[in-house]
Amino acid sequence: MYVQNADAPARKPVTVPRLQAMKADGKRITMLTAYDASMAWQLESAGVDVALVGDSLGMVMQGHASTLPVTLDHMVYHTAMVARGLSATLLVADVPFMADRDLVHALEAGARLVGEAGAAMVKIEGAAPHILEAIEALVARAIPVCAHLGLTPQSVHKFGGFRIQGREQDAADRVLAEAKAVQVAGAGMLVLEGVPTALGERVTRALSIPVIGIGAGPHCDGQVLVIQDMLGITRGKRPKFSKDFLAGHDSVAAAIRAYVADVRSGAFPAPEHCFD
Ligand code: KIV
Repeated sequence: MYVQNADAPARKPVTVPRLQAMKADGKRITMLTAYDASMAWQLESAGVDVALVGDSLGMVMQGHASTLPVTLDHMVYHTAMVARGLSATLLVADVPFMADRDLVHALEAGARLVGEAGAAMVKIEGAAPHILEAIEALVARAIPVCAHLGLTPQSVHKFGGFRIQGREQDAADRVLAEAKAVQVAGAGMLVLEGVPTALGERVTRALSIPVIGIGAGPHCDGQVLVIQDMLGITRGKRPKFSKDFLAGHDSVAAAIRAYVADVRSGAFPAPEHCFD
């Protein structure tokens, strides 16, 4: 359940149909990760459209080298905390590694993240047959699904590292075909990560659902970043597709407001944050 955040400026709740209307109206969507109530409140207060409890928490909160050790219990714990910091911001939670290994587990993940923790949508990586089946089954049970394609971090070992995807023509065509397949299966939104700008544009134009990019170029319908990256507190090297919004601002709140303004105006991502 959402708990009203009394200190945040009142605004209309962001819903999945509203995000789809934003795409139709050409209004860019802002999304950031949050893993606890205090950061959720910062996102809410800055007018961010979507808060994502990403399984990136395994890396940025738990200190692991990948997202693979994150469990469904971890996701439920963090999603419930974030839900308590939000009122109007739409809450999306990741289905972690192997929690989607078959239909029963995928439905259990959806039920817990939405019913128990308070998410309004779940995000699931890939477009393998069992994932398409899971998307259909979750949507049929009124659980909206955000797909995630391109550089899907749960496939790190398959990819041989966190590598940009879709650089060659056949690989780009495959990502586009997967994007169409997740839309047909019923996904209400797509996160597209780590692909060349031209592919980001192709996918965004081909789909009727919003495409939220992270390292996918400026033509996507919206942008998402991991909050630690955009606050300049990445452990190690900040990814090329991110920007330190705290530099030049005197508070976390001002940095998040700057991110919202730059995504909405199209100033972010700039060419230096993109892949050709
Ligand atoms: O886990 C996460 O934070 C994500 C974003 C990188 C999109 O999936």
